[in-house]
Amino acid sequence: MRMYDIIQKKRDGRELSTEEINFFINGYTKGEIPDYQISALLMAIYLKKMNKRETVDLTNAMVNSGETVDLSLIEGIKVDKHSTGGVGDKVTLALGPMVAACGLPFAKMSGRGLGHTGGTLDKLESIKGLKTGFTKEEFIAIVNRVKLCICSQTANITPADKKLYALRDVTATVDNISLIASSVMSKKLASGSNAIVLDVKVGSGAFMKDLESAFTLAKEMVDIGTSVDRNTVAIISNMDEPLGRAVGNSIEVKEAIETLKGNGPEDFVELCITLGSFLLVLGKKANNIETARDMLTEVINNGRAYNKLLDFVEAQGGDVNYIKNTDLLPKTSNILELLSDSEGYIKSIDAEEVGKCALALGAGRETKESNIDLAAGIVLNKKVDDRVNKGDVLAYLHFNDNRKFEEVRLQLRNAIKIGNKNSEHKKMIFGIVDASGIKKL
Ligand code: URA
Repeated sequence: MRMYDIIQKKRDGRELSTEEINFFINGYTKGEIPDYQISALLMAIYLKKMNKRETVDLTNAMVNSGETVDLSLIEGIKVDKHSTGGVGDKVTLALGPMVAACGLPFAKMSGRGLGHTGGTLDKLESIKGLKTGFTKEEFIAIVNRVKLCICSQTANITPADKKLYALRDVTATVDNISLIASSVMSKKLASGSNAIVLDVKVGSGAFMKDLESAFTLAKEMVDIGTSVDRNTVAIISNMDEPLGRAVGNSIEVKEAIETLKGNGPEDFVELCITLGSFLLVLGKKANNIETARDMLTEVINNGRAYNKLLDFVEAQGGDVNYIKNTDLLPKTSNILELLSDSEGYIKSIDAEEVGKCALALGAGRETKESNIDLAAGIVLNKKVDDRVNKGDVLAYLHFNDNRKFEEVRLQLRNAIKIGNKNSEHKKMIFGIVDASGIKKL
């Protein structure tokens, strides 16, 4: 088999066989096929697409490129959740304690971010002492004891995806449905859970900019999960404006803590309850979605979700005083206000632009080697549909590096559109996709 022939076949729009897909994934993982040939193939896949069979084969080849995790020593049904990525996405930090407080084991392997802000592991580093590197045995012991552990990968899973994703990132081939679906699902299948809840984001701050492609991506991922007998559900959620109010790292941790105390922003709470309700139903902790939603609301109201966060932080070696007194979390030397120069209603807040502003203030990594400023970021004081008067605070900019402030302030002001009349209210959840089909809401 020759790599040249595989590239040529896909370039001409023909279907790759299982053997051809296994050949290029194995060869690339072992370093036997150079980046330039895989780059050419990725562009051919991007332009000519893959069909469902090819996408399933690509997913399986990536799963088989590394180790798979055995979670059988964790008691109960293991349900994993994954987000396709967005701005202000601190869902894992609140959702983990919520579902664990309802008795569902939440054993999550998370990553660091190469995006507008850090990933879940970076965010958790705002809590002094909190460790995320565990052996497999330690990971399982914590989940069995506390029902919740968030750690970095304990095994060398999907090395092919790591290499491919890095290459896609620099060859403009990320936002292809087959490539995203196989990348996400290979990691989920290798992580050993019994069932999967996917948060597929749509809007300006997401990979999928329109509803049709979001539903197509969701269906593709659900079909992959179903093809290997994993109960998989995808929720299509709104990422036109940032999720919640905080976009950064320590400020997102603070927002997640407030959410567990019952003071969360409406859109963020709604998303956590929706995702959590599917987790509880798939994990057989609730018979139906309505009961599950009630259970999740109850554990926020009675403090059990917040107490679960304290147990989790303690179990992972963190200082619980950082949760009890959020003033201890990393803070910037400057917090400046962005004031409104007009009046009306907030028509839109471009999530991607807000993400770029947070990145420019230091909240994310420009390259793999960059350091994150855990305290930097943006807190929105107004959300879409809110009434605004001249002089009202639209947002707070948290930063240490003064040089960027003026530039970012202008960029952020341009990202927030104020109109004369109330905009049409945007939904948080657009639909659900499972093995039985697509339900648009
Ligand atoms: N998230 C992933 O893990 N992979 C992609 O390709 C896109 C989002």
